[in-house]
Amino acid sequence: MDIGLTADVHSHILPGVDDGSPDFEHSVAILTKLRELGVRRFTLTPHVSRSMFPNEAADLRERFARFKAQLPPELAGLDYHLGSEYMIDEFFSGISDRLGYPDGHILIEMSYYERSREIKETVFNLQMDGLVPVLAHPERYVFYQKVFDRKKGVAELRTLYDMGCAMQLNIMSLTGAYGERSLAIVHWLLANDMYSYIGTDVHSPGQIDHFSTGLLLSDPEMEKVRQLAKNNENLFINK
Ligand SMILES: [Fe+2]
Repeated sequence: MDIGLTADVHSHILPGVDDGSPDFEHSVAILTKLRELGVRRFTLTPHVSRSMFPNEAADLRERFARFKAQLPPELAGLDYHLGSEYMIDEFFSGISDRLGYPDGHILIEMSYYERSREIKETVFNLQMDGLVPVLAHPERYVFYQKVFDRKKGVAELRTLYDMGCAMQLNIMSLTGAYGERSLAIVHWLLANDMYSYIGTDVHSPGQIDHFSTGLLLSDPEMEKVRQLAKNNENLFINK
């Protein structure tokens, strides 16, 4: 699959901080593979959640600076930024030092199995703070898959979108890796032009080998996905 991805907006490449890359060697292997695919810009988005990955922005910045300084020459020349993927829970509103994209968007997520009670107020409050929320992989949430309706889609995703929350598609979702219900949401969100961005959400080098296998999209859908890849570049424009 060549979707023309030049800028990745969702990745777990920063080593040793979450369930993504465990060490520097894995991170280099991931970056090397993505570079071969044509990716030149990266926003690294380690998980931040009080219960699972209680990362602090200051510590992530230090690790990110050290990581960049160690990169081999063929990777050092690429464009790297540090963001985060924030779990929306009762603690999120207490985080004052937040790591977003250069242009002022910020990546948020929920648990796959449990809807965040704070999701709507968070989407509202972030925009009050001048940030635009980007919901990671809306197609992967099981509680949305359960209520998906072929005609109406998922009412809450429509609501969040109408409130100003952008949606980010995962590349792996296009292969059917997360099941038929997930793919049904992908088709619906694409048909309604509700996605704005696409990310690898890469956690390990091996995942990248599957990006091009078994793609389950029509040609018009592929065109839309290519446009999402182009949109990614906008998140890297400094405001
Ligand atoms: Fe992620």
